[in-house]
Amino acid sequence: MDATNILTEPHAHRRFPEKLAFMLNNPIRRLLSPPDRLISKLRISSNDVVVDFGCGPGFFTIPIARVARRAIGVDVSQEMLRRTANYAKKSRVSVETIESDGNKIDLPDATVDLCLLVHVYHEVANKSKLLDEFLRILKPSGKLDIVERTKGGLFAEKLGPPTVNIDGFKQGIDNAGFITVEIAPYEKDSIFYARKNSLR
Ligand SMILES: C[S@@+](CC[C@H](N)C(=O)[O-])C[C@H]1O[C@@H](n2cnc3c(N)ncnc32)[C@H](O)[C@@H]1O
Repeated sequence: MDATNILTEPHAHRRFPEKLAFMLNNPIRRLLSPPDRLISKLRISSNDVVVDFGCGPGFFTIPIARVARRAIGVDVSQEMLRRTANYAKKSRVSVETIESDGNKIDLPDATVDLCLLVHVYHEVANKSKLLDEFLRILKPSGKLDIVERTKGGLFAEKLGPPTVNIDGFKQGIDNAGFITVEIAPYEKDSIFYARKNSLR
């Protein structure tokens, strides 16, 4: 399986609608699934440069900015980036924003410690290009952490992110030049912890 067919058509989702951005950053989500709970599992150090790819309205980007040296929110949607920048201003933290669909991310080679994607990967059209771009911007010791839904449920396909197959997902990431070092269950999701494969 290659990195582009991790999700077969029935599971592929369209881009998350901008008009529903409020669903991604609201007090109920913060109460039920506090962003710091996930962030504490990502082993971010205070010297790290972190890219929150597909940042949406900044639900994770802003708390990341409190623990990392640089937090960079990347999204294809200008509206989502505007919301992230507003949320950062209100929260009095410094966040950079970059508009990109993942084919080209305006960052220099080997400058990023962690690329994080939460419920985004399944939306990206050209997954191979995105993973190549991550290989380019990540430092040799760089990490890629992807969070996707792995436990289905009633109406799962209709309401939440699509459910991915754990083995297929891991294989797709590894075939693209990463090594998945751990897969940890997280709520209804799994966190795929990957590193750059230095042998390639
Ligand atoms: C379901 S939202 C998740 C947002 C955020 N990670 C969170 O958990 O709150 C998916 C986000 O990915 C963005 N997105 C989708 N496809 C993208 C792409 N090819 N490049 C960059 N961002 C993308 C959407 O605009 C949206 O903001």
